[in-house]
Amino acid sequence: MAKVTVYLTGSVAAYKGIEVVRGLQKKGHEVRVVMTAAAQKLIAPATLAALTKYPVLTSLWDSKSPIPHIELADWTELAVVVPASADIIAKMANGIADDAASTTLLATSATKVVVPAMNSHMWAAPATQRNLNQLKDDGVIVIEPVQGRLAEGYSGKGRLPEPEEIVDDLTTLLTSEGPLTGKHVVITAGGTREPIDPVRFIGNRSSGKMGVALTNAALAAGASVTLIVGQVSVDLPRSPRLTIVPIESTAELLAAVQRHFAPADALIMAAAVADFKPVEVASEKVKKASNHNDWQLNLTETTDVLKQVAHQKSENQVVIGFAAETQNLLANAQKKLASKGADLIVANNVSGKNGAFGNDNDQVTILEANKEPVEWPSMSKKEVAQRIVSLLSNKLKSGD
Ligand code: CTP
Repeated sequence: MAKVTVYLTGSVAAYKGIEVVRGLQKKGHEVRVVMTAAAQKLIAPATLAALTKYPVLTSLWDSKSPIPHIELADWTELAVVVPASADIIAKMANGIADDAASTTLLATSATKVVVPAMNSHMWAAPATQRNLNQLKDDGVIVIEPVQGRLAEGYSGKGRLPEPEEIVDDLTTLLTSEGPLTGKHVVITAGGTREPIDPVRFIGNRSSGKMGVALTNAALAAGASVTLIVGQVSVDLPRSPRLTIVPIESTAELLAAVQRHFAPADALIMAAAVADFKPVEVASEKVKKASNHNDWQLNLTETTDVLKQVAHQKSENQVVIGFAAETQNLLANAQKKLASKGADLIVANNVSGKNGAFGNDNDQVTILEANKEPVEWPSMSKKEVAQRIVSLLSNKLKSGD
């Protein structure tokens, strides 16, 4: 069982933090608490001290230990800031250490989880979003607030998820032991959109189901996942080990993949990427003028993200690509395996009603260099995803 430090900060949702402390204790974890001055205006430290049987750290100066923050930081295996105010998020993002909570957070090398709760406008403020992005870049796990009625009396994004859900997410984080534990996998999903003008775009029929199934399978195997996601028609997973990066165009996809794959162990390119984009994007909506009755749209090729990234990968990184074909599946997929530089290609048929796009089932063939193609029987995308993730675990383990 883990040693968890819960940081309560100044948000009306502080009382829910007490429930998180109790929930973690019920799961058998040892919990200690730090409170900011604002949190102490909302709830009494004595309540938390009684619940945890530990003194609550509220100041750097009036404890018996000369360095109480370092002692607590070193003891901690998981640090959870719940609820996290905009203020503590800003401090963490900038390395500010001006009270017991911010100083102990800076001093802890344990995994950090932040569960923000604040007014929806404070949440949406560019400064808060910038700080959260910084925290994610620093490896802090952010459990996003939910939409709902706020203390202010109106609805918006900024509500703390229910304490049971937070405890469930933390439990997954603490207990996740699997073949990909400690590995970081980047997965792309959904279709990209290439703008023609402010209202029109070139898109495709991708539903994102395969990318989402892969994300769930990788999370279940213990990985930390960055899901780079375009247009999808399915709900996205939620997990403290999941970071979601939304993108629209192929150029945005390329930038996001380059940034997030560099420090990661593996990349699975399940996104349906536009191959062509308009040469010029009109800044105003193109009108139905008479000279447009045969409007010719000039297209140019987009960057092949998989090809570019796979050719730059380091020896220990594994890259898996897909091949969406409507004819000559094996021959075309073999060509992609050879040209793209991926370690493995998952080939599927996307033609007709039974094709891969949008369906729950899939029939794929696995291609690897110097190996015979392996045709898998038709099965659910969930099962295909689990099998791909287990191939990935074996590749990462064997290092080939
Ligand atoms: N892909 C990519 N960037 C592109 C196009 C495709 O990264 N601009 C990736 C896809 O995510 C997939 C693989 O390349 O993993 C194969 O995609 P697919 O659409 O099957 O093939 P294309 O390379 O687009 O070739 P073609 O359209 O000629 O079949």
